[in-house]
Amino acid sequence: MKTKKKMIVGNWKMNPGTLDEAKKIAKGTVKAAEMTKKVEVVVCPPFVFLSEVKKILGEKKVFLGSQDIHFEDSGSRTGYVSPVQTKNLGATHTIIGHSERRERGESDEIVNKKIAAALRGALVPIFCFGEKERNASGAYLEYIKMQISEGLRGVSKTDAEKIIFAYEPVWAIGAKEAMTPNDVYEMMLYVRKVLRELFDAEVSDTVRVLYGGSVSPQNAGEIMKGGATDGLLVGRDSLVPENFGEIIHLANEIK
Ligand code: PGA
Repeated sequence: MKTKKKMIVGNWKMNPGTLDEAKKIAKGTVKAAEMTKKVEVVVCPPFVFLSEVKKILGEKKVFLGSQDIHFEDSGSRTGYVSPVQTKNLGATHTIIGHSERRERGESDEIVNKKIAAALRGALVPIFCFGEKERNASGAYLEYIKMQISEGLRGVSKTDAEKIIFAYEPVWAIGAKEAMTPNDVYEMMLYVRKVLRELFDAEVSDTVRVLYGGSVSPQNAGEIMKGGATDGLLVGRDSLVPENFGEIIHLANEIK
């Protein structure tokens, strides 16, 4: 398998409340990421803060992402933000299909359209998927396979290689505990198997597969090592630069 830089993505969700706080978090994140050579860091603030956060990130090492995009490039879409607008604000990445959007009605079909829109607009999709619950019969594996294949419908092999895959079991998001490193490991293998079946071994080996769900400085190292992930998607702790910084450093130390 090719060696890839680890990736740590921070999803700020609908936080913080003020621009001043957003700037503080962004500055703290830039500082934390400064010394790391082996990690790519992406922060995904709310749309309203993208341009100001971009000024702080400058041409530094931290990439800017949005938490969503609309799948159309322009038009009568009151309240939405297009991939073009997002890109023009300096974003390079966008989260797509986060469970908090899926639970409000975002279907696999919409996720698929958004992935296509991101690729068309030269934004790297951070494609989220994951089961709502686990059951002994293993039906959740089929569910994940369906989410991945529906999300990637019509995506070429070359485009698939540009996507960041983020496995996030919904039950572990915003929870007390993350998934165990062993279980994460199994799921990383499974996601790669699905990608191999959909495309080929090259795609499955090339892409990064991240884990997300209650990642903290306490469990990040074990999840990355034991879980063999290519990085992490961090919610709550991405708002606390010391914690996010610690997670970035842990990623940097992994051989
Ligand atoms: P959490 O969120 O780290 O707060 O669990 C993760 C996510 O929703 O991406």
